[in-house]
Amino acid sequence: MMLKKIFLIVICSTLLMSCENKLSKDVDNKIKIHTIIPVPAHFEPLQGGFEITDEVKIELNTNNKQANIYIDNFKDYLNKLGIKTSNSATKPLIIKWNEKQDSLLGVEGYQLEVNKNHIVLNANNEAGIFNGLQTLKQLLPAKRIKSKAIVIASCKIVDYPRFAWRGLMLDVSRHFFTVEEIKSYLDKMSEYKFNVFHWHLTDDQGWRIEIKSFPKLTEIGAWRVERYGRYGSDRAYPKDGEKASYGGFYSQEQVKEIVQYAKDRNITIVPEIDVPGHSMAVLAAYPELSVNKKSTFVVPGSKFVDWQGGGKFEMLIENTLNPTDEKVYDFLDKVFSEIAELFPGKYIHMGGDEAYHGYWERDRNVQKFMKKNGIKDGEALQSYFVKRVEKIINSKGKKMIGWDEILDGGLAEGATVMSWRGMKGGIQAAKMGHEVVMTPTTFAYLDYMQGDKSVENRIYANLSLEKTYQFEPVPEGVKPELVLGGQGNLWTEGVATMPFAFYMTYPRAFAIAETLWSRKQDKDWNDFARRTEMHFDRFEVKNTNISKAVLDPIISIYKAGDKLMCKLVNSIPETEIYYTVDNTYPAQLGIKYTEPFEIPEGDLDLHTQTVRNGKAIGRELHITRNKLLERVEK
Ligand code: ACM
Repeated sequence: MMLKKIFLIVICSTLLMSCENKLSKDVDNKIKIHTIIPVPAHFEPLQGGFEITDEVKIELNTNNKQANIYIDNFKDYLNKLGIKTSNSATKPLIIKWNEKQDSLLGVEGYQLEVNKNHIVLNANNEAGIFNGLQTLKQLLPAKRIKSKAIVIASCKIVDYPRFAWRGLMLDVSRHFFTVEEIKSYLDKMSEYKFNVFHWHLTDDQGWRIEIKSFPKLTEIGAWRVERYGRYGSDRAYPKDGEKASYGGFYSQEQVKEIVQYAKDRNITIVPEIDVPGHSMAVLAAYPELSVNKKSTFVVPGSKFVDWQGGGKFEMLIENTLNPTDEKVYDFLDKVFSEIAELFPGKYIHMGGDEAYHGYWERDRNVQKFMKKNGIKDGEALQSYFVKRVEKIINSKGKKMIGWDEILDGGLAEGATVMSWRGMKGGIQAAKMGHEVVMTPTTFAYLDYMQGDKSVENRIYANLSLEKTYQFEPVPEGVKPELVLGGQGNLWTEGVATMPFAFYMTYPRAFAIAETLWSRKQDKDWNDFARRTEMHFDRFEVKNTNISKAVLDPIISIYKAGDKLMCKLVNSIPETEIYYTVDNTYPAQLGIKYTEPFEIPEGDLDLHTQTVRNGKAIGRELHITRNKLLERVEK
């Protein structure tokens, strides 16, 4: 299958090269085989190319407001490449809103034809036009080489998404990101045809959205004391009288601005208000909403959870709302009212994850309430809470979505489930006829390390680009129409800045975008890896640092008898791995890796690096023998 594809690519590019002499000086070889991410459903290279020097004419057959906004944004993109749009230009980009709907294209698909004389983009509506323009951007260079003509190689594309929900989640509670930073995150998402931004707005470490009925949520709940160091381990609790100086929140005016900005990039925002757990910031502001009503603080990343294995945990500080108190439902009613006003999308996310039931189960009044209402345990009480919340959210004209814990103790009637603890919650919910969004830790958690822990910001789990690419959102036995789609989740305990958020998101978001947009049968790791490397260049010219961990060797260490053995692999094609165990630099001085080798005893370090065509690529990994010993696979 792969060989056939390579053969076809070679034939196509050879044909193109022979027919294109006039243009070939200007056409970058790389774009003859397309580099589009996510891979389109149908791509046919044609002869020749569309040459643009300074001007292009845009012809449009619709005055749809949103389509015109998309096109204006595209004109800005062209302007940055030094291309103006002018009605006197001879070469047109013709954008056609289909008068007769093309059922293959659906609501977000498009057709794009580039030839010597014109570019024609047609779609059934504004979303299709938007997506076609994103592809067109990828056919253009990311940066103009001086004032050289730009040539887009001729081609025909017919393209449409596999899933309607193609999301990324950003946690703005653990670290706060400014309005401009959120916009930059949305910009990049939209270029890869993501259409849902799940905005994790509240958590124990900060409440980030202005709620006019409860001003203390942001006066108090948005701020914590400044701490550095690793989350959940060595950060000290606030001292008496210490000023809470780290944080921030989005005013309602700023939220409206971001909602509009997202809309102008074909992105719907799903706001998350995470309850009944993860609510320490709420309780710092309004302690009366907890069972014990004790005053507390916004946690600055200090340890307050005792993880007991197997998904069990104890919260050492109360961070749950009291599900037996009517005041809590009055509070949520007002909060969700304001949220529903601000966000025009269909869904509101109510969290529901990792709610600790201990404070409920140990409280006499809660116990009395449970007895009176025939609620048998903490799970059933959480289910009672979730069902009440669903009624509130529905009463605002919205649909409720929550993390898969909302299944525990019985799922609310119309709830959509976001499956994160693997796929099983999603499978269970879909089997009950509920819609699901798949976002399993195993394939979609962007906070996990993507390369060797010797060079990454250390956290407890790994998720490589290759593994992310293996994500398949529709498990066997599940009705595909119930899987709305999926998303990558970026939790930000260890992500303090937007440049690092980009580093953690990309290129794994390419893999997620392709999984969610492209046809299952078109996914091909080697071809994806090739296109990914081309997109590294696109980010580089924009000075955005994204992870190239996929270029690094993957190290496995094991014992064979008394010997400490090392296996090296690399998932990117056309590379070699070099290494040394004599404390020297590997690329020029090293041994070419062919098979597992022994790490001899002694005061030495392993050095290893990936090489292509005699040149080192990726990072040099450098690990002491003692550190390697700690990695021995048991
Ligand atoms: C989650 O990762 N707690 C949804």
